[in-house]
Amino acid sequence: MQRMEKHIQTMAGHWLKLLVCSLMMMNTQVRGAYVEFTFLESAVSKGAVCLNGSPPAYSYVKGYGEGVSNWVVFLEGGGWCHSKRDCQARAKGYFGSTLTRGNQTFFSGLLDEDKLYNPDFYNWNKVYIVYCDGSSFMSDIEEIDPETNVTYRGARIFNAVMEDLLAKGMKDAKNAVLAGTSAGGLATILHCDYFRGLIPNASRVKCISDSGFFIHAKNLLGAEKREDYYANVVATHRLAKFLPASCTSKTNSSLCLFPENLVGDIQTPLFILESAFDSYQVEHNYMIPAFGNTSEWNECNTNLTRCTSTQIQLIKDFRVAFIETLQKLDNCSSRGMFVHSCYLHGHITVKRGWSCSSVVGNNVLENKTIGKAIGDWYFDRSSFQHIDTTNAVPRNCTGTLTSEELQKKCIHQLD
Ligand SMILES: *[C@@H]1O[C@H](CO)[C@@H](O)[C@H](O)[C@H]1NC(C)=O
Ligand SMILES: *[C@@H]1O[C@H](CO)[C@@H](O)[C@H](O)[C@H]1NC(C)=O
Ligand SMILES: *[C@@H]1O[C@H](CO)[C@@H](O)[C@H](O)[C@H]1NC(C)=O
Ligand SMILES: *[C@@H]1O[C@H](CO)[C@@H](O)[C@H](O)[C@H]1NC(C)=O
Ligand SMILES: *[C@@H]1O[C@H](CO)[C@@H](O)[C@H](O)[C@H]1NC(C)=O
Ligand SMILES: *[C@@H]1O[C@H](CO)[C@@H](O)[C@H](O)[C@H]1NC(C)=O
Ligand SMILES: *[C@@H]1O[C@H](CO)[C@@H](O)[C@H](O)[C@H]1NC(C)=O
Ligand SMILES: *[C@@H]1O[C@H](CO)[C@@H](O)[C@H](O)[C@H]1NC(C)=O
Ligand SMILES: *[C@@H]1O[C@H](CO)[C@@H](O)[C@H](O)[C@H]1NC(C)=O
Repeated sequence: MQRMEKHIQTMAGHWLKLLVCSLMMMNTQVRGAYVEFTFLESAVSKGAVCLNGSPPAYSYVKGYGEGVSNWVVFLEGGGWCHSKRDCQARAKGYFGSTLTRGNQTFFSGLLDEDKLYNPDFYNWNKVYIVYCDGSSFMSDIEEIDPETNVTYRGARIFNAVMEDLLAKGMKDAKNAVLAGTSAGGLATILHCDYFRGLIPNASRVKCISDSGFFIHAKNLLGAEKREDYYANVVATHRLAKFLPASCTSKTNSSLCLFPENLVGDIQTPLFILESAFDSYQVEHNYMIPAFGNTSEWNECNTNLTRCTSTQIQLIKDFRVAFIETLQKLDNCSSRGMFVHSCYLHGHITVKRGWSCSSVVGNNVLENKTIGKAIGDWYFDRSSFQHIDTTNAVPRNCTGTLTSEELQKKCIHQLD
């Protein structure tokens, strides 16, 4: 029996090696596929439109085989707009309209069609929802702003797309995932239980927030600036009445976009994927608000070896506050947590973040890739709640690997 297994393992090893070779022969072309937008024209009459009035859009790939009744729905990120003027400018650009960008999405990472890189989700129904409302899919203001012609309707976009997906078969989903990165990771936290409620008969529904845990950290430098910024997002999009009552009943609603005030009340299992040195937060919610836009900071931000010792100390302080914030959450056994120490923001829609070992190192986080940790957690093969508490300084994990070397490393991890 053992011998048989050994033989099978060896065969699998050969097969993988063959695959490695054929991958290399395919040159270093990035794997994954472009998927065309579906424009949801029918949503326009319901007033579900982007900031500039354009229709919602998503990219969709149908599931097959064992994945035919499984759905992964991904919410795109891209920050927020926090004033009328800011939203007016945004309405003209990439994140305010579906008509000002390429009409397709590159599917990789969690959305990868290749079983080798995405063994748990490759054959699922996969949806990537374009972000064009500037409010993490939360706004719903009836009137179009007469001064700017801007429309605030993120929640309507979310609902219209969900309705469409339910009709496409999601209503009969067995397994489902709601995921998102950055502002989409925050949207995932905000919509997680609602999403669960849309498919009450599904046997397993979980949410994955990738780089969506934006901390308030009221004792960390810049707290007032963070408060003001998110309060302005809440005010501009008039979100107060749409934010979870579990938060707004206890706290000023302007603080209810901070996940530390939200996740304790989420019933659906949630995975929190983060860098303790989240590069977006370090830059936008900490260093720049607290110290201004200095060229010195820009140098540090783009090349960590150029940071001054003062800057490194400040970044270290951010990590301490970040980890403290996470550790103050109730310890919920269904929650997943993968918190590493690479200076990064966003992981799951790129192969480097999802299936390669770029963030795993120094013998922490159980040597698991993010994709493996999340897959194991999703299917209850094993729980995963790990914070890298050993690396106290930010690491540059972008590294110097060529894509060929990286590819080898990915396969090695899966071997
Ligand atoms: C995207 O599609 C829209 C509507 O079909 C079209 O008007 C636009 O030119 C296309 N944009 C690009 C960049 O191809
Ligand atoms: C708003 O739209 C109306 C009608 O198309 C137009 O006349 C007006 O100039 C627009 N206002 C702004 C601020 O773009
Ligand atoms: C859930 O399943 C029950 C029993 O099969 C069925 O009656 C009900 O309509 C289903 N609910 C939804 C929302 O699909
Ligand atoms: C809630 O926060 C906002 C924005 O910071 C502030 O203007 C308002 O006064 C606060 N409300 C209460 C009741 O404290
Ligand atoms: C921020 O700094 C960069 C580099 O020094 C500069 O190009 C940019 O104009 C500055 N932005 C603002 C808003 O001051
Ligand atoms: C990380 O290293 C890569 C490769 O040397 C470099 O291109 C990148 O700018 C570095 N990033 C930071 C934040 O230091
Ligand atoms: C980062 O800065 C160091 C020190 O100034 C320099 O040697 C290195 O070439 C820089 N790296 C990149 C990718 O620019
Ligand atoms: C939560 O509890 C589990 C099991 O008791 C432990 O392994 C894990 O480290 C805890 N997580 C946090 C974030 O404290
Ligand atoms: C991680 O990998 C290293 C090197 O392969 C190994 O020595 C170590 O035991 C592994 N750690 C865990 C927790 O699996």
